[in-house]
Amino acid sequence: MKTYICQICGDAYLGEEKPKNCPFCGARENFMKLGAEANPIVNQKTEVNDLSGRNLEEALGLELRANLIYLCMAGKAKTYAVQAMFKRLAKVELEHAVIVTKILGIAMPTVENQTCSEDEVENFKQTISLEEHASGIYAQFAQEAEEQNIKILFTALNQAEMDHIELIKRYL
Ligand SMILES: [Fe+2]
Ligand SMILES: [Fe+2]
Repeated sequence: MKTYICQICGDAYLGEEKPKNCPFCGARENFMKLGAEANPIVNQKTEVNDLSGRNLEEALGLELRANLIYLCMAGKAKTYAVQAMFKRLAKVELEHAVIVTKILGIAMPTVENQTCSEDEVENFKQTISLEEHASGIYAQFAQEAEEQNIKILFTALNQAEMDHIELIKRYL
């Protein structure tokens, strides 16, 4: 078994083969590094300009609301498999929020309670539209970022959210 460390969230995955996505933040495999080769962005001191600061705060709000929405959806799921998937999705979005708070050096804010539909199909559709919004805005934030680390972070988040769209499409 080997130790792979995610260059984005800094969490360690223990396994024989590099996973296709970080199990914790969903970053794609090119961000998974063999133990000693990793220098995770989340652990680096990154000075951010005003624009990146605002973009990171917007991302933080999106991630925290997504976390609560997906927990709501997990509660409405009709099968254990869907419930487990939404719980994991919620954890991945919370991980994104944690990364952002660490980079900004701020405490985790609280957000207003979120609701979701009683209908599973509606929830899948809402998930796709949330993920489309997030991936689109992260692509823009990646372009706008002047700091290399922030560019890399938003690129990884954009890809992770796009991969979530592909995941949910399988349920529709
Ligand atoms: Fe990760
Ligand atoms: Fe996210």
